[in-house]
Amino acid sequence: MLKVNKINKHFGGVQAICDCTLEVEKGTITGLIGPNGAGKTTLFNVITGFYKPGSGQIHFNDEDITGLQPYQIFRRGLFRTFQITREYKEMSVLENLLLIPKGQVGERLWNVWFKAKTIAEQEQENLDKAQEILEFLEMKSKKDMPAKHLPGGEKKLLELGRMMMVDLDMVLLDEPGAGIPPILQNKVLDYIKKMSRERGLTLFVVEHDMNVIMNLCDPIIVMTDGSVLTQGSPEEVRSDKRVIQAYLGQNPSEHHT
Ligand SMILES: Nc1ncnc2c1ncn2[C@@H]1O[C@H](COP(=O)(O)OP(=O)(O)O)[C@@H](O)[C@H]1O
Ligand SMILES: [Mg+2]
Repeated sequence: MLKVNKINKHFGGVQAICDCTLEVEKGTITGLIGPNGAGKTTLFNVITGFYKPGSGQIHFNDEDITGLQPYQIFRRGLFRTFQITREYKEMSVLENLLLIPKGQVGERLWNVWFKAKTIAEQEQENLDKAQEILEFLEMKSKKDMPAKHLPGGEKKLLELGRMMMVDLDMVLLDEPGAGIPPILQNKVLDYIKKMSRERGLTLFVVEHDMNVIMNLCDPIIVMTDGSVLTQGSPEEVRSDKRVIQAYLGQNPSEHHT
C-alpha cells in the first residue's frame, strides 16, 4: 500500500535519511523502531509531505505522491496524527472534531449533491459521531473547553478522535502511547487494534515503548542511520543480534525526539 523507494533527505551536512526503502502492506499494523536519531520522525515527515526528499519516490495505493503537499496526501487517505496546530488550539474540543469532516463536505460537494444528502443532514451526522467519540474517549465533559487547555495526554486523545472522524486508508502514528494515562493507554491501543481488524485500517507506528510495539505491531521495521537495518515479526526482531547491537549504549525506552 505504501512504498518508500530509495529516499534520501539531508539537513545541511546531516544525512537524516539514506537510501531508505521499505513497504507497508495493506491491513497491517507495521511498527517502526530504531535508536534516537535513526531518522524515523524525518521519514514520517517526508512520507506525509511536510519535508521534500532530496531524491527517491513514495507511492501510495500505486500512485506517486512524492513532493505532494500534506493536504493533497491527506485527501488520498493518508494521515499523520499528533500535530495540533495553533488554530486548532484556540478552538473547543468539539470544534476540533467537527473541523475535518466539514472540510471534506466542501471538497466532496459533488458527491454530496449526487447522494442527495443535504449539508444540514451531513452536519447532524458529524455532530452525532463527534459526541459518540467524546463519550468513548471519556472527554464529554470537556467538549466546550479550548483544546489548548487540555493536558498533554488528552491532546493526544483528541488527535486520535480526529482520526476516528474520517474514513482513512492509512494512518501514521507517532508514539500513540506517550503522555496518555496508563488506563486510557490500553483503551487507545485496543481501539487501534479494533480499527485495524474491523475497518481494515492500515497503521504505521513509531513508538519507543518496546512493550507497546511488541504487543501491537507485526511486522516491525528497524531503522538505523537513516536506512532499514532489518524487518520481521516481533520474535525475529527481538532476538536479532544486529538489533540488540544497534541499541547498545542507548536505553530503548529513553524518550525520542
Ligand atoms: N529539521 C532538522 N534540521 C536539522 N537536522 C535534523 C532536522 N530534523 C532531524 N534532523 C537530524 O536528522 C537525524 C534524524 O533525526 P530524526 O528523524 O528526528 O530521528 P528519530 O526520529 O529516529 O529520533 C538526526 O541526526 C537529527 O539531528
Ligand atoms: Mg523521532
